Amino acid sequence: MSDTQNDRQKARQPGVAAVFFRLLPAWVAAAPLGTVFDILLMIVNSMTSGLIILLTQRFLDAGAEFAAGTVATGAVLAALALLALAHAGNHVLTGLASYFGNSHHQKVVGALRHSITKKASRLAPLDFEKTGILNHLNKAEQGSFNAASFAGTTIIIFMMFLPYFGFIAWYLFSLKPLLVLALAAAFVPAALIQFLRVKVFAKLEDASAPARREADYYEQCITGREFFKETRLLGAYWYFKRLLADCIALLNRLRWKHEVKANGAELAMKLLTLAAYTGVIYLLFAALTGREISVGAFAAVYASIDQLFRMMNDVISIQIGSNASRLGSIRNYLAFMDLPERGGADMAVPKTKGVRLENVSFSYPGSGTKAVDSVSLDIAGGETVAIVGENGSGKTTLVRLITGLYLPGEGAVLIGGVDTAEASMQSLFDRTSAVFQKYQRYQMTLKENIGISQVGEKGWETITSEKLTLSCAQADLETDGFPAGYGTMLSREFDGIDLSGGQWQRVAIARGLYRDYDLIILDEPTAAIDPIEESKIYNRFAEITRGKTAIIVTHRMGSVRLADRILVMKQGRLVETGTHGELAAGGGEYARLFKAQEQWYT
Ligand SMILES: Nc1ncnc2c1ncn2[C@@H]1O[C@H](COP(=O)(O)OP(=O)(O)OP(=O)(O)O)[C@@H](O)[C@H]1O
Ligand SMILES: [Mg+2]
Repeated sequence: MSDTQNDRQKARQPGVAAVFFRLLPAWVAAAPLGTVFDILLMIVNSMTSGLIILLTQRFLDAGAEFAAGTVATGAVLAALALLALAHAGNHVLTGLASYFGNSHHQKVVGALRHSITKKASRLAPLDFEKTGILNHLNKAEQGSFNAASFAGTTIIIFMMFLPYFGFIAWYLFSLKPLLVLALAAAFVPAALIQFLRVKVFAKLEDASAPARREADYYEQCITGREFFKETRLLGAYWYFKRLLADCIALLNRLRWKHEVKANGAELAMKLLTLAAYTGVIYLLFAALTGREISVGAFAAVYASIDQLFRMMNDVISIQIGSNASRLGSIRNYLAFMDLPERGGADMAVPKTKGVRLENVSFSYPGSGTKAVDSVSLDIAGGETVAIVGENGSGKTTLVRLITGLYLPGEGAVLIGGVDTAEASMQSLFDRTSAVFQKYQRYQMTLKENIGISQVGEKGWETITSEKLTLSCAQADLETDGFPAGYGTMLSREFDGIDLSGGQWQRVAIARGLYRDYDLIILDEPTAAIDPIEESKIYNRFAEITRGKTAIIVTHRMGSVRLADRILVMKQGRLVETGTHGELAAGGGEYARLFKAQEQWYT
């Protein structure tokens, strides 16, 4: 990252207060009643802590007076009883505050995690091709956990610790004004040093995210079930292990470097606190010998001062300190939540009316070449079109543009007359179905694997076994051998069965066909199916989708004869269009490709 970019980023960083006030609504919304209750508990808790000091003084003074013979035993016992009551109340309140605080915290964590997935669903699919965004996402997940703790502890500091410290300050001031200064001397520099920690840990967070993502990936390459067999057999394990070790070493080095700085600052702070502690004790002792304060006051302050310093240490180095180290990652969470969304209006996008591409070009982020280059074409509603071309010729990219998953860099894509750049993703994808080249294998039941394309928010009652059976038959998926029928779990991890590559592909096709659609894309999900079988599936697909707008993609020529029209892609350009008969006789790219593969089909 260049310096100017760094500066710009710094300029945009929200301060501690801004971060807190952005998180506060989420903290309150997670449990509105709980919020009121939590805060009341905190305030009452800090009041009883203060009360304990006053009652300790009173009890000790009563003891001294009893020794001097000026009061009766009853007075001492009454003071003791009050003190015991305050202690008991304080313990109960602390327990309650921590119990309700924890449950509130869990709710906030859940709500923030949910906010990330919701946000991710509103980003443009193309954003996920950008490395920067994936780093953002990774950092945001870390940050969301920290954000809940940050909001919670900040509230504890303001609602519990600060009132308590305020009380102590008032009490010390009333005993001897100078005592207050000693406390301030311990508090202020320590707080300042925490600001340094904020900076140090924000830098650490930025520096570690890429390496952490890499490490996670290598780990997955070694231990993931899908990776496992290939990694082991090919001996790649050692290579991944070395890469992983390098990443971990880098992460450790980064952490170490930053920890040294942060802990150096913390040591300085501890020494300062110790000096202030000694100072307060000395002042107190001087006040006692100078007969400025009573024995009770001396003993009460002395007894509570240890607790006070422990509490201050807790507040500064644990609560504020951990908030400081969290701040960097929380800013990343907020930055992720602020990313521009894909947008677009909800409107009717009639897929029955065909698709038009006007001089469309598209490049992937960070790529200098055009994956789709100046393509213009019209697909009529109800037409079956095949897109063919060699590997890497831009077929998959073209269908992503046609569905509106990606927006063109130049030119326009119109679905039923509506520009894909103008409609929301929801409007674009409604009544559009697709079977992708890189389809998903959901570790769920067969029913879920197929019905997931249609269930939406409608509920599983709407997924019928008649339609499941139809989709499976259309995809040529034999389900007789499945032990629990559509309820069969398709996952070894969750105690189910695994399928062959070809079976998985048919499940993916059944999923695409189950969805209600007017426009459907079949982007060669057929790598594990032999050419003859593939050509059967494609021909059946063309029959099933007759009357709907259907686009089939393949680089195998035998599969496309049934299409109304064939589009031939080459290096991102649309080089030929026509029927099989026209193109095969034409002597161009299609004829060349067809000739090369002819023996597969005859
Ligand atoms: N996510 C991506 N990021 C960058 N470049 C990409 C990405 N996906 C594809 N490309 C590039 O875009 C070009 C077109 O790829 P595309 O996947 O559209 O080809 P295809 O015709 O579908 O190939 P295949 O027959 O192998 O599926 C290729 O040069 C490829 O390297
Ligand atoms: Mg492809």
